[in-house]
Amino acid sequence: MPVIGSVFGKDAGEYADLAGKMEEYGASAVELNLSCPHAEGLGHEIGADPNNVESITQEVKGSVSIPIFPKLTPNVKDIVALADAASKGGADAVVAINSVRAMAISPDAKMPILANKIGGLSGTAIRPIGVRCVYEIWKEVSIPVIGVGGISSGMDALQYLMAGASAVQIGSGVWIGGPGVFSNVCKEIEEFLERNGHKSVKEVIGAAHSC
Ligand SMILES: Cc1cc2nc3c(=O)[nH]c(=O)nc-3n(C[C@H](O)[C@H](O)[C@H](O)COP(=O)(O)O)c2cc1C
Repeated sequence: MPVIGSVFGKDAGEYADLAGKMEEYGASAVELNLSCPHAEGLGHEIGADPNNVESITQEVKGSVSIPIFPKLTPNVKDIVALADAASKGGADAVVAINSVRAMAISPDAKMPILANKIGGLSGTAIRPIGVRCVYEIWKEVSIPVIGVGGISSGMDALQYLMAGASAVQIGSGVWIGGPGVFSNVCKEIEEFLERNGHKSVKEVIGAAHSC
C-alpha cells in the first residue's frame, strides 16, 4: 500500500531535508504542511504568503523525485493564489484544507484552553469551507486537488469530488468513526455510483461545475 508522508519545517531547507528523508524511507509522495495554525511563526504564518508557498515548493521539488503536495491554509482571503503559487513552484497536487483558525476559552480558568491561544477547528463544521476552497481552486488551477475537512461519510466525500477533488483525506472522521471510516466511505461512494449509473468515480469529479 502506498504511504504518503507529511512534513513541517521552519524554512525551505528544513522542508527539503525532511522530504528527502521521507523519500529515503520509502514514502510514495510527500505532503508539505504549509498551513498548521497552531504554531507561532510556522505553518500557516509561512504558508499564507504565496511567495513562500512557491519558493518552498520549488526547493522541495528540486530535491526529491517523489510527487509533492503542498497543503494549503484556508485562513487567507484568496486560497486560489496559494494554489497557483504551489503550481508555479512545481507541485504535483495541492491539498485543501488545513484546519480553520479558532479559539476556545475555559470559563473556569478564564483563559484560552490552548497554550498558543489560537488553534485549528476541524471536523463537520469546516466541510462547507473546504468544499468551497476545492471548488474555487479547481476552476483556476490545473493540477489535481486533494480535498480534506469534515469528511466522515461517502456523501461528504462526494461533495469534495464533485467540487473537483481527485482524492480525499480523512482526519477527524477517524476519531469519530474509528479506522472503519475508510471502508465505509468507499462503500458509500460505490453504492452512490451504482445507484446513479456511473461506471467510475472519475465521472463525478468536478460534476458540480457543469451547472
Ligand atoms: C489532532 C489533529 C492533528 C493534526 N495534525 C496535522 C499535521 O500534523 N499536519 C497537517 O498537515 N495537518 C494536520 N491536521 C489537520 C488535518 O490533517 C486536516 O487538514 C483538518 O483536521 C481537516 O480535516 P478533518 O476535518 O477531516 O479533520 C491535524 C488535525 C487534527 C484535528
